[in-house]
Amino acid sequence: MKGLVLAGGSGTRLRPITFSSAKQLVPVANRPILFHALDQLADAGVRQVGVVVGEHGDEVRTAVGDGEAFGLEVTFIRQPRPLGIAHALLTAEEFLDGDDVVLFLGDNLVEGGVTSLVHRFASERPTAQLLVKDVDDPSAFGVAVVRDGVVQRLVEKPAEPPSSSALVGVYLLSHDVLEAARRIAPSLRGELEITDALQRCIDDGGRVQATELSGWWLDTGKKDDVLDANRLLLAELTGRVDGVVDAASRLTGTVVVEPGARVRGSSLHGPVVIGAGTRVTDAVVGPDTSVGERCELVDCEVVDSVVMADSRIDGVGRIEHCLVGRRVTLAAGGGVAHRIVAGDDSFLELRGGS
Ligand code: DAU
Repeated sequence: MKGLVLAGGSGTRLRPITFSSAKQLVPVANRPILFHALDQLADAGVRQVGVVVGEHGDEVRTAVGDGEAFGLEVTFIRQPRPLGIAHALLTAEEFLDGDDVVLFLGDNLVEGGVTSLVHRFASERPTAQLLVKDVDDPSAFGVAVVRDGVVQRLVEKPAEPPSSSALVGVYLLSHDVLEAARRIAPSLRGELEITDALQRCIDDGGRVQATELSGWWLDTGKKDDVLDANRLLLAELTGRVDGVVDAASRLTGTVVVEPGARVRGSSLHGPVVIGAGTRVTDAVVGPDTSVGERCELVDCEVVDSVVMADSRIDGVGRIEHCLVGRRVTLAAGGGVAHRIVAGDDSFLELRGGS
């Protein structure tokens, strides 16, 4: 069983962050989203993993390395254009070499890992084993009609969903699915859909099974999904202070202060993580906030937010529900609450409020 993690695509819903960076590298609880998929594959005993990359491929390669840090052997596979999940599968044909595969969408986060799914697939040998979750608005996802654990029909983002079972972005596939992907045509959005390849397998008499996911699942396509993911993963942290916190500062709840970080005259309300080399001075941070490496927070309050590496927030009062990109500067007098999505390399000068 090999792994295939999709880290290409265009990430249009997370612009401007994704103009300069891969959406799968957006950090939640200070760890790129993609790393969680790699961890879960390693935990499930998968060793050889292909990572499909697109326009931000170099950045993904640099972040993931050769996979040793995850206990994996990683091979990067370049997809020239994001022409669909089934297209990405076909692009990986040589790497897969006829083996079964766990296909993991690199922007999906799944609670509880994939170990039991991998075991089930290995013992029951269906054509494919899917994971589904009941959602309020299935029209944003692939939708499955399932009877007694067997998938009868699949539709991609239907205007009128035939059920409330959304397809989670983890698929266990036999080689038959890749063969079926060769025989499908692009959808109306111009992509080779994995749902169409799976439907082809069902039509050909293959057995496609679905298991209901009991834990949480997030597709981190948009800002609020990233903040939700950040909140959920921060809740799993164990507190530790490896940086320096002065006597005038107050820490409550679960707080992580990474090595080289310095906190002075500040309150950290966990769950919070302060990245390595970051300086926090006369500030209030948290709850539900991740601050990346080498940031500077001065005289401000940052709540329910993700602040990425090398950014500076100075004197802007309270900011909340924010996704702040890398190397961003937010500076000015404070007082009001702002709602911002700031892309990498942005510079925002905010008018002070009272
Ligand atoms: O999140 C689950 C949903 O993911 C499923 O319910 C849908 O059936 C499935 O089609 C997919 O829908 P999305 O519209 O959310 O897929 P998205 O375009 O965001 O791509 C998912 C991941 O795969 C993302 O990390 C980007 C990557 N990707 C995507 C395409 C189309 C590639 O690497 N190459 C591609 O060509």
